[in-house]
Amino acid sequence: MSQTSPIATVNQLGRHEGRTATLAGWVYNVRVTSKVVFLVVRDGSGLCQCVIGKDAAPPEVFDRAARLTQESSLRVTGQVQREERAPGGYELHVSDIEVVHATVDYPITPKAHGPEFLFKHRHLWFRSRRPTAIMRIRHTVIDAIRRFFNDHGFMLVDTPIFAPSAGEGAQTLFAVDYFGEPMYLAQTGQLYLESAALAYGKVYCFGPTFRAEKSKTRRHLTEFWMVEPEIAWARLEELLEVAEDFIVAIVQRVLHDNRPDLEFLGRDVAGLERIVKPFYRLTYSQAADILRGPKARELLNGDLAAGQARITELHKSVEDKENERTGPGIKKHRQETLAQEILAQREELAELEEQVKNIPHHMELAANFEWGKDLGGSDETIISRLHDRPVFVTHYPRECKAFYMKRDHEDPRVVRNFDLLAPDGYGEIIGGSQREDELDALLARMAEEKMATEPYEWYLDLRRYGSVPHGGFGLGVERTVAWICGLKHIRETIAFPRLMGRVYP
Ligand code: 4AD
Ligand code: MG
Repeated sequence: MSQTSPIATVNQLGRHEGRTATLAGWVYNVRVTSKVVFLVVRDGSGLCQCVIGKDAAPPEVFDRAARLTQESSLRVTGQVQREERAPGGYELHVSDIEVVHATVDYPITPKAHGPEFLFKHRHLWFRSRRPTAIMRIRHTVIDAIRRFFNDHGFMLVDTPIFAPSAGEGAQTLFAVDYFGEPMYLAQTGQLYLESAALAYGKVYCFGPTFRAEKSKTRRHLTEFWMVEPEIAWARLEELLEVAEDFIVAIVQRVLHDNRPDLEFLGRDVAGLERIVKPFYRLTYSQAADILRGPKARELLNGDLAAGQARITELHKSVEDKENERTGPGIKKHRQETLAQEILAQREELAELEEQVKNIPHHMELAANFEWGKDLGGSDETIISRLHDRPVFVTHYPRECKAFYMKRDHEDPRVVRNFDLLAPDGYGEIIGGSQREDELDALLARMAEEKMATEPYEWYLDLRRYGSVPHGGFGLGVERTVAWICGLKHIRETIAFPRLMGRVYP
């Protein structure tokens, strides 16, 4: 077939209304009836319903359409018509189809697949609607991040990925062999960025970072993307304001650009609309009081009761469905539907049982929370769920935080740092601090931590030559995307997730 009209994209189809256009894409779905074939084409920009009428299209085109298989690639030509009920608002009334590659047995079918299977087929799963919506939101988040800093006078400075020493604690370093010398993958760009801040004022770095996290949690990847601003002359209070504006800007951009994606994911959009200034501000000590107090207890008791009730309900429902599925005279279609529903409910059940089992432990951790300990994942979840907007937790005990954080002169037990907890139980998405800018205090702290000073001589130089108050923070892209999308697990927010026990594909 010779191509009759220029290639249009689904998201721009409106421009061709009433005229002939050609789409180049893949078969997302095809439904064949005796008179019409309904073909849904995916081209990366959206989904378009294409209609091939037996009476309207040439017979060989109708036959070709009826034999199309999922994820075959093709060019399809037809009249663009306005159709309110169609996914993108337009429909293609097809006059010609050219199959470019006919796919046989595409592994991901419209039926339900478990996460193991889907992640093993991540390279193909990508094409489905849910990952597409998430990847689009991730794109917006990253663009909003760059814009925010570029528009606010920050200069981008790329920091190295090969790092000869730890930035965030030795336990999570990935070692690599660098021509026979030990070397590590960067956990943060911060230390290098501090030198850039003292050179250029307001700077940021943005890149992949690596942590050998052995914990298999919903919040940890071994490779994740972090953006880190660093500001000369900034004190803690100013950092909080920058972080607040920054988060609001990101959420606003996603609300503006990705509303249909959020809705497709079932995200409570109203919850995102409530992300306005000012965020809550708690000190670590206040957070500790909340954890030990009645509100935390009430919250978890409520979870326990609700969880147990839902478990009973699910057991009953699965049992009923099993009985119906294996009962006499059941239709094949109904049987398949039931099987899928049972699979989904079993998955929910397993997850919920695991959650409920952990609640008493989380209650105990919270009730006996000791001043001096870092907030754990379950503690963060409690604090963030008790607030409907993000919460800054500031002034942590110095013993649970990194060596570079500035000691507070008013209360030397704490440092001038903050974590930002996202609402709805998502926990920490930003960690930041004012930096120790006094040479003697920094050396004393490094000695306490038994850190060798030699690898850090260059870093100490920043305190020897024109030291100034300064600070910054790091935002984890994947945790932010998980929160904005309302996802249970961080692994869906990155193209090819790297976790302990998952590196394929
Ligand atoms: O709190 P963190 O460790 O802070 C730093 O690395 C500082 N050097 C940042 C700075 O002040 N410039 O990490 C910052 C953020 C966390 O709040 C979290 O969002 C994300 O990075 N993060 C992770 N995301 C996914 N998987 C992991 N294993 C993560 N570890 C940290
Ligand atoms: Mg942190």
